[in-house]
Amino acid sequence: MILEAKNIYKSFSNGEKKLPVLTNLNISVDKQETITIMGPSGSGKSTLLHILGTLDKPDSGTVIINQIDVSSIKEEKLAQLRSREIGFIFQFHHLLPEFTAFENVLIPTQILGNTDDKIKRAEELFDYIGLKERKEHYPSQLSGGERLRVAVLRALINNPSIIFADEPTGNLDAENAKKLLQLFENISKDFEQSFVITTHNEDVAALGDRQYVLDHGVLNNRGYGTGFSNEKF
Ligand SMILES: Nc1ncnc2c1ncn2[C@@H]1O[C@H](COP(=O)(O)OP(=O)(O)OP(=O)(O)O)[C@@H](O)[C@H]1O
Ligand SMILES: [Mg+2]
Repeated sequence: MILEAKNIYKSFSNGEKKLPVLTNLNISVDKQETITIMGPSGSGKSTLLHILGTLDKPDSGTVIINQIDVSSIKEEKLAQLRSREIGFIFQFHHLLPEFTAFENVLIPTQILGNTDDKIKRAEELFDYIGLKERKEHYPSQLSGGERLRVAVLRALINNPSIIFADEPTGNLDAENAKKLLQLFENISKDFEQSFVITTHNEDVAALGDRQYVLDHGVLNNRGYGTGFSNEKF
């Protein structure tokens, strides 16, 4: 088991009002498993990914990553754990505009030590993803699909156990969405990562070994799939 979250509660207060978003939610992720999460806008998908990815804290409940209860360790250790075990692909890529594509990919390595190994790995990943010629481009000099692929490399650079992707195809046309999903499939095969993907797209949801819908604060099972071997892609 790579990740286990138990009895997660999260609410946001809005002035006087308290808005419950996650209410006693449970989820577990196994090695090399792909989990997809659908759910209406505002149901809490991004909130959940941030909590599972240790970018935000639940009001109560536990998140255990590779046997470590993340609430039991100090921020510095947590930052290291996050860098080592977790990759994040955000909906709006979040590349830093003042750094080149290559530098952006290396940013997560800094916390663990920016070694020659990592530079070599970054070179290999740029080859792997077909962006060898774009390494020195700034984000503003890349297409939307290319930016997202750079963001995928940034998530991969530390070879994490699990990758969270928040609505990764939301801003892509059908052709680029298909390419991205093919890339995820290759990554899952070649690097044995687990994926948790939120999506509004039925075809993306169908890629999940386990498929959920987040509604009224909990995850409901919507089915099981064959993961990336799904015929559609
Ligand atoms: N920092 C915050 N402060 C107050 N309310 C918040 C905050 N972040 C999220 N919310 C509220 O929590 C709810 C869940 O938001 P979240 O972004 O997780 O939804 P989502 O399922 O990702 O939606 P979408 O599909 O539109 O991306 C929303 O009603 C949102 O307004
Ligand atoms: Mg969201």
